[in-house]
Amino acid sequence: MDLLFNLTEIIRYYNYLYYMIVEKKEKDLKKIKEEVLDCKKCPLYKERLKNKFYPVIGEGNHQANIVFVGEAPGLQEAKSGRPFCGAAGKILDELLEFVNIKRKDVYITNILKDRPPGNRDPQLEEIKACTPYLERQIEIIKPKIVCPLGRYSMKFLMEKFELEDQLKEISKIHGQSFKVDKFFHNFTIIPFYHPAVAVYNPNMKDMLKKDFGLLKALLEKLLKEDKTKKEEWESEKREMEDPFF
Ligand code: URA
Repeated sequence: MDLLFNLTEIIRYYNYLYYMIVEKKEKDLKKIKEEVLDCKKCPLYKERLKNKFYPVIGEGNHQANIVFVGEAPGLQEAKSGRPFCGAAGKILDELLEFVNIKRKDVYITNILKDRPPGNRDPQLEEIKACTPYLERQIEIIKPKIVCPLGRYSMKFLMEKFELEDQLKEISKIHGQSFKVDKFFHNFTIIPFYHPAVAVYNPNMKDMLKKDFGLLKALLEKLLKEDKTKKEEWESEKREMEDPFF
């Protein structure tokens, strides 16, 4: 009976911890939002004010298994404050639907939170100034998989997580898995072409669909591993509850 009481207490404690973690994630992500709204670390904030744009901080599930990282907001995104809601976003939505992953179940952000004028490429100084926010978003959400969309986010993420020796052109490594082992957070990076490449080139959409198929397969494998671990844990728990089990 004592043992059962202790187990109930342990389960209650784990539930409590889970809700504490969820609450802390919300709080930490909200703090990032407030900081980005005030951020003046690179000149892009002036463009935001001048054009009455919004920063695009990120959107989605804070418990997501997958985080997508694009390059920078385009015009539609800067007008609305939402990532991937223009033409490239339509392609991303189509790819997610193709592999039966719901947009509300993933988290989507960019390496730059503000729109570079004329949709030009991100500059090194802007990447340096803005990416600490992305690093914190990944650390807080702790996804199982991080998917850079495009060569800028691929380069940044692979260098950041000590995979520079495996970094090649995106045409050579798109769809491949790279393991990151960090203290308290192991995850996999899978680089993809930026969905915008398929806006005018339907052949690229087939390639992207194939890569998203690999993402789905990896996600299913990781979820299955989790389920097995949970079942093992539950069986051990039952043995403890009933020594004659
Ligand atoms: N392209 C990006 O890289 N990010 C967006 O949010 C939209 C388009």
